[in-house]
Amino acid sequence: MKLLGKMIYVECFMIIMATWFVSMSYGHRAMMVSDVAEAPVIDDVVGSPTNGLDTSWYDARATFYGDIHGGETQQGACGYGDLFRQGYGLATAALSTALFNEGYTCGACYEIMCANNPQWCLPGSIKITATNFCPPNYTKTVGVWCNPPQKHFDLSLPMFLKIAQYKAGVVPVRYRRVACAKTGGVKFETKGNPYFLMILPYNVGGAGDIKFVQVKGNKTGWITMKKNWGQNWTTGVKLTGQGISLRVTTSDGITKDFINLMPKNWGFGQTFDGKINF
Ligand SMILES: *[C@@H]1O[C@H](CO)[C@@H](O)[C@H](O)[C@H]1NC(C)=O
Ligand SMILES: *[C@@H]1O[C@H](CO)[C@@H](O)[C@H](O)[C@H]1NC(C)=O
Ligand SMILES: *[C@@H]1O[C@H](CO)[C@@H](O)[C@H](O)[C@H]1NC(C)=O
Repeated sequence: MKLLGKMIYVECFMIIMATWFVSMSYGHRAMMVSDVAEAPVIDDVVGSPTNGLDTSWYDARATFYGDIHGGETQQGACGYGDLFRQGYGLATAALSTALFNEGYTCGACYEIMCANNPQWCLPGSIKITATNFCPPNYTKTVGVWCNPPQKHFDLSLPMFLKIAQYKAGVVPVRYRRVACAKTGGVKFETKGNPYFLMILPYNVGGAGDIKFVQVKGNKTGWITMKKNWGQNWTTGVKLTGQGISLRVTTSDGITKDFINLMPKNWGFGQTFDGKINF
């Protein structure tokens, strides 16, 4: 028994050392996502503390949109694309104007529970990431849940069914901000042309929603990017042919640098793995 215990101990130690060595050898190289499959990625679930986040409970309402497979919830006003590929899956919601904050809230994570409706509520809570916008409709007179100043979550159907019965249609909820638990590093997707670089950060841990982005080329200083749509950040400065670093600040004031994120020969329509997360 004692010998077996010792052997297990030694084996565990060797695995830890091997893992450490591998992570050290890959840790400081910015990689394209296509490289990641070959690299032994250590999938630590990131769950940062919620310093600087208001985690009090508030009242809102919730409905659902799309089908049981998350149809209609893809793409959307935050700029994200295939939510399954990007790691958000079905755990998403579209926010009303009052919560969306012109897209600054995209990527934020919420815990939501059905409240004060014993007929339709189910026990327990869900955690979702904001990935879309629930637009107001001023011509409607009934069911105008997403019009200002109302706080509203239009959940994916599978998420709604975890906290309420389908027949309810709309339920009162309690909600609070929570730290986003994401796997692996922040990812950055490029789009545009030499005179218009657009970067979409996704899979952001911690606060999850980004308030400030700066970009630096090999031959430039730090350039402040403009939030142009959802979580798409842009600059008109020509950066092709230069290695690129990014500096990202989340809504809780935490800043992370992604140094040498993109190599000199980066292109449009590529995704880069930031390797670290919030
Ligand atoms: C936002 O960025 C993503 C990723 O590059 C892109 O697919 C999408 O078209 C962008 N959305 C807008 C409205 O520019
Ligand atoms: C707004 O509401 C009206 C009345 O219910 C409806 O006909 C219209 O399609 C809605 N508009 C949108 C953009 O959903
Ligand atoms: C230029 O960018 C490359 C790749 O991102 C990086 O390795 C290098 O350190 C950068 N050089 C300077 C002078 O910033």
